[in-house]
Amino acid sequence: MQQAWNGRGNEIARAEERDCPAFCGMVGRSRAMRRFFALLRRVAELEIPVLLVGETGTGKELAARAIHRLSPRTGGPFLPINCAAVAREIFESELFGHERGAFTSAYTRKEGAFEAASEGTLFLDEIGELPLAMQAKLLRAIELKEIRRVGSNQVFESNARLVAATNRDLAAEVEAGRFRADLFYRLAIMPVHLPPLRRRIEDLELLVRFFLQGRKPAPTVAPEAIETLREYAWPGNVRELKNVVERSVIFSGGGRIEREHVCRALMHGGLSPASAAGGEGKLLERMERRLIAAELARNHGNKKETAESLGIAKSTLFEKLKRYGIGYVVPPRSRLEEEREGCEA
Ligand SMILES: Nc1ncnc2c1ncn2[C@@H]1O[C@H](COP(=O)(O)OP(=O)(O)OP(=O)(O)O)[C@@H](O)[C@H]1O
Ligand SMILES: [Mg+2]
Repeated sequence: MQQAWNGRGNEIARAEERDCPAFCGMVGRSRAMRRFFALLRRVAELEIPVLLVGETGTGKELAARAIHRLSPRTGGPFLPINCAAVAREIFESELFGHERGAFTSAYTRKEGAFEAASEGTLFLDEIGELPLAMQAKLLRAIELKEIRRVGSNQVFESNARLVAATNRDLAAEVEAGRFRADLFYRLAIMPVHLPPLRRRIEDLELLVRFFLQGRKPAPTVAPEAIETLREYAWPGNVRELKNVVERSVIFSGGGRIEREHVCRALMHGGLSPASAAGGEGKLLERMERRLIAAELARNHGNKKETAESLGIAKSTLFEKLKRYGIGYVVPPRSRLEEEREGCEA
């Protein structure tokens, strides 16, 4: 029965891949993404927890939704919980629910996420932010498949399937004592890595066209504009690209998107307070600042390599980093990712 269903889920996905470039809303034709889609399809069919690992904006939430959609649980609920956004005090009640009168403001009995996601998928986003005390409770829930509402002695079963996501290096968090090793190994049975955009740059044009789809009149893009976009390092990944495309459309006034529109769009965004404040300073300085930040990201924060690729002395680079207040640090690549790359090489 389950087998039959899975066959159908995969058929839908394959037809999507054939007819349009999006796989459950995710665009990509690069080798890295094709491998990723294949892996996603396989893990979707299983009941095991999945840990999605990737830098910010790489599409972890889209991937979690795809796993749910391609799994036998597609008819059930998909329930996302952002671990970074839930206040510490109410975490337990959010996950496991509470009985009436369990605490002062518990006027009624409340169902928790594990209960609500039964027969479906519970997506624990930004799992690296989970407080240590909650990690212990989560581990118990996963291991025993047992849930206890706050203020209740009764345990009940939950069969919610767990998909977690993180942009942190969880192995390093374990080493630093901020993440429980036992929970890490439970969640990381099947780590699935989302490649950063700079390592699948061949998908960029496809993504740009995808983000321009459905606009009337349909904007065209100059090849030089695409070239400029391909040269950038994309520390904010696909989300940043989507925003840059949005801004380029505005700057082009609805006409053809030229290189100058893309350059302006690139300079108007950014992750540091200085660039977010709206491009103060002289044009050349802003360009330099952008270029240095991009190179630094491309070199995974390695300053020696960045200085070399920019053709300047390391001391000059340090001085410029300080002057421009470039503080963006590329999330450390997880050891798991490095290991995986080692295997592929
Ligand atoms: N392959 C893709 N194709 C089309 N759109 C994508 C793709 N990947 C990401 N996006 C879009 O980029 C944006 C960011 O994606 P998403 O929220 O899934 O990233 P994330 O990895 O969860 O980021 P964060 O770690 O910051 O939460 C969304 O608007 C999403 O629709
Ligand atoms: Mg997310």
